[in-house]
Order: sequence, then C-alpha cells, then structure tokens
Amino acid sequence: MYDRIQKAVSFIKNRIEGFRPKTGIVLGTGLGSMGGEIEQVTTISYSEIPHFPSSTVESHKGELIFGYFEGVAVVAMSGRFHYYEGYSMEEVTFPIRVLKFLEIDLLIISNAAGGLQAHLYPGDLVFIKDHINLHAQNPLRGQNDERLGVRFPDMLKTYNEKLNKKALEIAEKNEIRAFEGVYVGTQGPNLETPAEYNFFHVIGGDVVGMSTVPEVIVARHMDMSILVVSIVSNRCYPIEELDETTVEEVIRVVNDTGEKFVRILKELIHTTN
Ligand code: HPA
Repeated sequence: MYDRIQKAVSFIKNRIEGFRPKTGIVLGTGLGSMGGEIEQVTTISYSEIPHFPSSTVESHKGELIFGYFEGVAVVAMSGRFHYYEGYSMEEVTFPIRVLKFLEIDLLIISNAAGGLQAHLYPGDLVFIKDHINLHAQNPLRGQNDERLGVRFPDMLKTYNEKLNKKALEIAEKNEIRAFEGVYVGTQGPNLETPAEYNFFHVIGGDVVGMSTVPEVIVARHMDMSILVVSIVSNRCYPIEELDETTVEEVIRVVNDTGEKFVRILKELIHTTN
C-alpha cells in the first residue's frame, strides 16, 4: 500500500506544482457545492489519480479541488467513498493516506447524520468529540506498516478539542444552532429500525451516519489533527416521533444547511491547531 500511496502522491504533486495545501476537507453528502467557495488553483478528477477508487454515488462528484479558502491553501475531496458502495476499507480510506503524504496536518470531515437526541433537529450542526465504531471491518486490519502508523493507535484524543470549542464559539456568535456529540458509525446502506435508533441513543450516541469513522481511524493512525462536523438531516429520537427518511430529503436538508457550516469554517480555518 505504501508504494501505491507514493505513486498517487507524486502524480498529484506533479500536477499541483508548488501548491502546498495544509488543510484537507472531506465534503460529505450534499456539501459538494462548498467546492464553489474555494478559489480554485486546480482540480484533479479521481479517475486520473493512480490507485484512487472512483466515485459511484450520484450526489458526489469525484475530484480533488486545490485552492484557497479564505486565503488558506486547502485541498477538498468533492466526493468520498462509502463502505456500503462495495469498496474495501482500504479503498474507502486510501484518499486520507494520500492527503497525509501531501503533508496535510488538519483534516476536516463533514457528513450528514441522523439525530439521536430529542434536542437535535434537521439543520443542526454537531461537532464530533468521540465516536462509536459499529462497522464490522476495521481499516487497520492486516499487517501494519510502521511507515504509516503504529500497530495499536490510541484513540483517547482523536478529535481536536480546541477546534471544537472554537467552532462552538463561532456558531454561538453567529446564532447558529450547534452542539458537540458522539457519532455512531454504521455500515449502512439501510437506515435503522426504531429499536436500533433507540439502542444507539442508549449506548451514548448523539448522531448516526454511514461514513467518517473509517476515515477518522486512518487519520488517527497517521497522527492527523481531526475536526468532524455532522449536519443533522433527520430526527431519529424519540422513536414515537420518527418519520420515514429519503436520500432526497437528507440531501435537501444538507444543501440548505451547508451555508452555516461554511460560515463557521471561514472563521475556524484561521485557528491554528
Ligand atoms: N442513519 C444512518 N445514516 C444516516 C442517517 C440515519 O438516520 N441520516 C443520515 N445518514
């Protein structure tokens, strides 16, 4: 894998010439339009990059966007890979490995998620402070390559506390509803039964989604600083109040809410981690 990462990295470095992004942003479902907020230097389609998987979900575009966000050099992944699409865990997390070797030290991940607390409504933002991994497969399974990270990464300080605190302060100042919470990562692609939503609530979850956890584990393995924001797209608790959820509705809510996240990020990006 190390060699495949290096091949992808040298291809990208050649294409971006002297451009050196320090922050990576993973644009989740419905947030692709945020790419438009970046003053673009260049874009590279996933299909051009050696060993990169290619995108299959229609709401995801499948390109790396290099440019300046509020004057800060960034690279954004417009389109990510989900385990439920059939990719292996190694494929799902390969782009994160590549970002690390492009010398990204801060990884910002966004996603759409169901709210597991009664106070969470569609359009709320939840900055993730911890997670519960319910994926059956782990991206670090198999022989460990010490050039990538240690065999048994500690997960106590996975999420950057300082950035979460700052994000919440910016949200409050802008009168944006935002919270901190625990992300429950499931495999999908089906949504959950009422009993499952209730279980996730009981075990300490605040939001639930089908992405992010594999990427976070790999980013932690490589000692990156991590900020995750979930956009609540549907209510999953209390179970007496559940409505059916469609992907169209999830995308609509995230599209409508993306702007709030962008507003916070515009200030947050200047906070050094
Ligand atoms: N469950 C799992 N993943 C999700 C949900 C949900 O309710 N909403 C958005 N992503």
